[in-house]
Amino acid sequence: MNTRMASLLTKRPLIAPSMLKCDFANLRAEIERLEQAAAPLLHWDVMDGHFVPNLSYGPPVLERLRDCTELPFDAHLMISDPAKYLKDYVNAGCDAITIHIEAVPEPGELLESIRAAGCSPGLSLNPHTPFEAIEAYLPACDLVLVMSVQPGFGGQKFMGDVLGKVSRIKELMREDQLLSIDGGIGLGTIGQSAQAGADTFVCGSSIFDQTDYSEAIGSLLAEIRGVSC
Ligand code: DX5
Ligand code: ZN
Repeated sequence: MNTRMASLLTKRPLIAPSMLKCDFANLRAEIERLEQAAAPLLHWDVMDGHFVPNLSYGPPVLERLRDCTELPFDAHLMISDPAKYLKDYVNAGCDAITIHIEAVPEPGELLESIRAAGCSPGLSLNPHTPFEAIEAYLPACDLVLVMSVQPGFGGQKFMGDVLGKVSRIKELMREDQLLSIDGGIGLGTIGQSAQAGADTFVCGSSIFDQTDYSEAIGSLLAEIRGVSC
């Protein structure tokens, strides 16, 4: 496991700010605010306008921001053909690189390449993708990202039907793997997500729609205090 990602294992539960709803005109300042709010990592939502109907940012932006913080970079690649760009995200300084099973139906080799490059391999599945699609690849991952919205945009409604999948994955995961849920996570949904077995919670609107990031993160954590992650 990548060193920065390994340091997170003892800090669970983790609130992972989704860098899609942040102020893109002030990214350095946003990162500083999140550090002051004790965010343990940053979740970068990379979109190519092909795998998902939205376009966000890529390696040049991540590489520049890498120098601004020591926080782990958790790159969520919502892109087609991620193998083609792996080197770029490794060189940009990503610590975890998560690919979608819908983009790479047989990800074994790519997950190994991500690990060989010194990054933590992650696998993500969309709300309607069955658990069985990733089951064989679970041992090769350091992180599994269960989508609770259709990927592409922040601010969508939480899809609670995925919680059964979260619980099934949790049963098969090792202690040294992170189980992350992504999409529509807020005060009303983080508790049930933690109960289902998630230990990492990607939050966009529930942080960036608030003025005080520290208070937002604190309230989210308070919702899951007592739930064993
Ligand atoms: C959606 C992204 C999510 C999203 C989260 O494709 O993967 O990370 O930005 O935003 P909220 O928390 O507002 O649903
Ligand atoms: Zn995401």
